[in-house]
Amino acid sequence: MPAEAVARPPADLSAARVRDPYPYFAWLRRNAPAHVDRRPGRPAVWQVSRYEDVRALLGDPRLSKDPGRVPGYVPGPAGLNRHLVHADPPDHTRLRTLVNTAFVPRRIALLEPSIAEVAHRLLDRVEDSAHIDLIADFAAPLTFRMICAILGVPGHLDTAATRDTLMATISPDSAADPARAVRDLHHLLDVLIAGKRSGHESGGADLLGALVRAGDESGAMSEEELRSTAYLLLLVGHDTTMNLIGNGMLALLLHPSEAARLTGPRAAPERVASAVEELLRYDSPVRDATFRCAGESIGLHGQTVREGEIVSLLIGSANRDGERFPDAERLDLGRTPNDHLAFGYGPHFCIGAALARLEGRVAFPLLLERLGPVQPAKPADELPWRPARVMRGLAALPLVRR
Ligand code: HEM
Repeated sequence: MPAEAVARPPADLSAARVRDPYPYFAWLRRNAPAHVDRRPGRPAVWQVSRYEDVRALLGDPRLSKDPGRVPGYVPGPAGLNRHLVHADPPDHTRLRTLVNTAFVPRRIALLEPSIAEVAHRLLDRVEDSAHIDLIADFAAPLTFRMICAILGVPGHLDTAATRDTLMATISPDSAADPARAVRDLHHLLDVLIAGKRSGHESGGADLLGALVRAGDESGAMSEEELRSTAYLLLLVGHDTTMNLIGNGMLALLLHPSEAARLTGPRAAPERVASAVEELLRYDSPVRDATFRCAGESIGLHGQTVREGEIVSLLIGSANRDGERFPDAERLDLGRTPNDHLAFGYGPHFCIGAALARLEGRVAFPLLLERLGPVQPAKPADELPWRPARVMRGLAALPLVRR
């Protein structure tokens, strides 16, 4: 099936909604906390927008993550969608255990010097530039470098071209050619996996090497699961944190008095940590949780979600719910408590949270310090947001020096 014809549920990717989903989210929370969209020939999609509901449903076993339960629903590129995001126990538990050890906070903490080194090097390159694109010049290469390091992707494949291919596989607009990107990505995975099998690259000390061995030696994962997992990790290890840095920097630039709390001697580690949590809440990089459908009938605000109907949990909305967060629409870098849902909740809680947090804690103070006085090169409502189904992130964040 050509990628364009993928039977996905309708998502409103109109320019206004992509640019600023928050007025719509506020409307939903107030007027239709369980809003259903039924269109002929497509599975029904429920949108859930309030914090308490989103949190409860993120951990509710009555919702399944198996897209096979929704007739006609195609969960992503063929051959690359059999991974833990689309699995219920026991498959989910098995696949999650295989990758989780590489991302535990203790191991991730060891990466701090190399995150800082890469970040400095990227900033050295733009030191004298009048124009900077925070995404292409910094957020994209930094985040991709780190997930490549963890997986063991060799340096010659850690390129802007690889990143473009990866992003084009999930691009719902026709500007990119998703079918071709998927073919290119399969080829990339062939090369990567063959490199690990031949033992030429790193001798299996990295995560991808370990996964290849787990599959080959004990049958712990199938070849399709291996390829899907590698694809998933490359994609989410990059796209999400790139959006944290982009959305977060934009928020800081638009709120200079808040940003000032992160500069100079005020940038104490605990302040930076709290700021990153608030940036995650304020403009959440994962706007909608990933695929879920009702595994049985579920009552919700006096209505019934029927088995096999899709349930979209709006994380970006939950994190702006005034019932949970006082003055929710305000950026407050010192906000406490701040039990946002930006990394999800329950059994599918983000595996990469420690990595993403560390990248954010390194990047924001460094950017503020080293870029000096900069501002977006365009008014905020003219910035190019990517029309993505799950993520919220900028295609570019052009900056000019003030
Ligand atoms: C700021 C950056 C990030 C954000 C906001 C984020 C957010 C999330 C969210 C909300 C979920 C749960 C989705 C759901 O339940 O539907 C999730 C799951 C996941 N995340 Fe992240 N993530 C980030 C960075 C990363 C990184 C760097 C990795 C590294 C590989 C990663 C890997 C994963 C994986 C593998 C899952 C699936 C877990 C499962 O289904 O059990 N994430 N993430």
